[in-house]
Amino acid sequence: MKDGPRARIASLSEETLREAATLLRSGEVVGVPTETVYGLGGLISSEEALAKIFSVKERPRFDPLIVHIAETKQKTLQWLSDRKWINLDSIEIADRPMLEKLMNAFWPGPLTLVLPKHARVPELATSGLPSVAIRMPAHPAFQRLLAEVDEGIAAPSANRFGRISPVRAQDVASELGDRIRLIIDGGIAEVGVESTVVEYAGKETLRLLRPGGLAREKIEALLGRPLIAANENQRATNLLSPGMLDSHYAPEKQSLRLARPVLALSKPELDRVVEELYRLQPSLAHLSLLCPHGSALEASKRIEAAASARDPKAPLKLSSIELSPKGDDVEAARSLFSALRAFDQSESTLLLIEPVERHHGLFLAIADRLKKASKLLELT
Ligand code: TXA
Ligand code: MG
Repeated sequence: MKDGPRARIASLSEETLREAATLLRSGEVVGVPTETVYGLGGLISSEEALAKIFSVKERPRFDPLIVHIAETKQKTLQWLSDRKWINLDSIEIADRPMLEKLMNAFWPGPLTLVLPKHARVPELATSGLPSVAIRMPAHPAFQRLLAEVDEGIAAPSANRFGRISPVRAQDVASELGDRIRLIIDGGIAEVGVESTVVEYAGKETLRLLRPGGLAREKIEALLGRPLIAANENQRATNLLSPGMLDSHYAPEKQSLRLARPVLALSKPELDRVVEELYRLQPSLAHLSLLCPHGSALEASKRIEAAASARDPKAPLKLSSIELSPKGDDVEAARSLFSALRAFDQSESTLLLIEPVERHHGLFLAIADRLKKASKLLELT
């Protein structure tokens, strides 16, 4: 694939949209902006495009895709059934109002619903599962493209499998630029983390498969009851939502997360952390410290001091990465993937991640992504 096409980044215009639509109709895949992260889009009706999505991303075929649909005024299950997306008969009548409430409140936006699928939805898109993931994206450029092609667009995040999700057109180019022809530039992704995936599991049950850009509390407040968590058993026995795989969203360089904040460690504990870093990378000279909320300054100073006490001749240079100095979840989500990508491109050889200690709003998704992007630093 190395000598393939070089993607062109095109700003949004009528011409770009027509070009993208033509490529899509011929079974090609295109980089598209969404409000969450950039996607790698292909027409749901094209087996060739679906196959290409998996091969371009190097994504295993057991990991199903999300189908993106055009915005409509009528957000009903009947309408999804008329458009041949879902099998309405498999949704209990008593459960329909809660699903329609979600569609009406949060579509278009960062919510993906997993519903019983219609027979016409290709098995390749759903990895043979009896359900299909559907989302109505809010980004105007994506909506215009959906209107232009008048068909659903399957789109996973436009990164190589397991890697950091792209939030800029340029990120898509660095991930997949040698494999696709066109990337539509829609600016920086506003939300910064992928959509929240909620599965209809029958009998009044809604399961949170992936925390994401729509806060869990907002869904629960609307429904007046909690979402069921996808549990460890389900994870082990079937893939459910491979976004749940343990390693995902990961930088290329070594990334470790701490179980407790640097400032909460005793002096001996901190010394053991530093010792472990040098055991893993004996010639460690440049370290990045990621702080999910608040300031990383004090923590950085403490690590620097511990390193220079350990070996005054080999000082450790620290770069601190703050997702949101004021501790705001929306701001932190927006800077998350850029921060991980910037670390990969920096001179640091190791990333140390402070724990996410807030669980409200988008911090749930941030904690989830950081967990999958790193290994826990265990002190023996
Ligand atoms: O925000 C987003 O959702 C982005 C943008 C591009 O729209 N897309 C995205 O797609 O994150 P992807 O492929 O990276 O993640 C899709 C997630 C995966 O965890 C997949 O396993 C899950 O949705 N999924 C898709 N279909 C499913 C199904 N039928 N049952 C359970 N999980 C499903
Ligand atoms: Mg992804």
